[in-house]
Amino acid sequence: MSTQKPRLLSGDTPTGRLHLGHWVGSVENRVALQDAYDCYFLIANTHAFTTRMDRPDEIRQSVLDIATDWLAAGIDPKRSTLFIQSEVPVIAELTFFFSMLLSYPRVMRNPTIKDEIRDKGLGENYPFGFLLYPIGQVADILAFRADIVPVGEDQIPHLEMTREVARRFNQLYCGVDSHTEDKDYLTQGGLFPVVDVLLGRTRRLAGIGAPGPDGNLLKMSKSLNNAIFLSDDADAIAKKVKAMYTDPKRLKATDPGTVENNPLWIFHETFNPDKAWVAEAEAKYREGGIGDMECKKRLVEVLVALIEPIQQRRLVFEKDPGQVLEVLREGTAKANTVAGETLRLAKKAMRQDYF
Ligand code: TRP
Repeated sequence: MSTQKPRLLSGDTPTGRLHLGHWVGSVENRVALQDAYDCYFLIANTHAFTTRMDRPDEIRQSVLDIATDWLAAGIDPKRSTLFIQSEVPVIAELTFFFSMLLSYPRVMRNPTIKDEIRDKGLGENYPFGFLLYPIGQVADILAFRADIVPVGEDQIPHLEMTREVARRFNQLYCGVDSHTEDKDYLTQGGLFPVVDVLLGRTRRLAGIGAPGPDGNLLKMSKSLNNAIFLSDDADAIAKKVKAMYTDPKRLKATDPGTVENNPLWIFHETFNPDKAWVAEAEAKYREGGIGDMECKKRLVEVLVALIEPIQQRRLVFEKDPGQVLEVLREGTAKANTVAGETLRLAKKAMRQDYF
């Protein structure tokens, strides 16, 4: 029996600070799984260039912000490996080889790519590298031969591509039979495990603003200006919750209110550990027996309790940015060792091990 822990890999694109949507989508899982798995966390700075190639300073700053957010959130560099994608060249090398294993129509059939082209208004004007990034993500994961990847729901299509590439590589270059079950690829001689996805407990956290034109609440996102950040302090949280969208038809505490599709209650259900209070307060809210202000005050307490320890740890790292860079330097060195071994084995399997 191998005593090695299974390997976990996940990452974030540095396009801004982390918010509560990241927390419930993936970051809380990452923090919780650090003992059970051999964890690798990557900052996908190369991917940030797909839509921000004209803003290198912003990407650089965001890389440091994400690393600080991670450390503040409780990702522990003694147990986990934190690294910068662009500084692990094996990932770029594998991206090239893996891009041969997916057809162009297959790449275009990725629903997350389609959504991004629509939501970011890219039209026909996206760079070629934008289409390449999901294959880059495949390489991020396979370079570490990860067994499990905790991510938000929007990443499922990229994970499905990762699974396809792993199967195909193992079949083409390691002689694994195409009828093999996903869990058996390694024992059948494959190099890459067929990864599992671990979704967060909330698949898509709403933002604090009003619904979009289709009547549905919008996903929490920095660019939609509806996010509560892990780096927000108690005052900022109180202001945001106070201004938070609730049931617009409810003018006073005695009006009956709607709980469904109401960020106030989505947030209580997601973050308030006192389930009994939430159930009772929701029942009162429906009948006009409790005021918005009281429920919002309670929500502020809940969110501050969640974010307070994150704030405390953040202070330490903010005072010493050199420490953050050092964590990334050490993590990146370790990541290069692991990924280097994968590339060596991959080239051997592909018969491109010449010297
Ligand atoms: N695309 C992911 C996001 O924007 C970030 C990412 C890059 C990632 N490489 C990864 C996530 C590998 C998991 C595994 O959220």
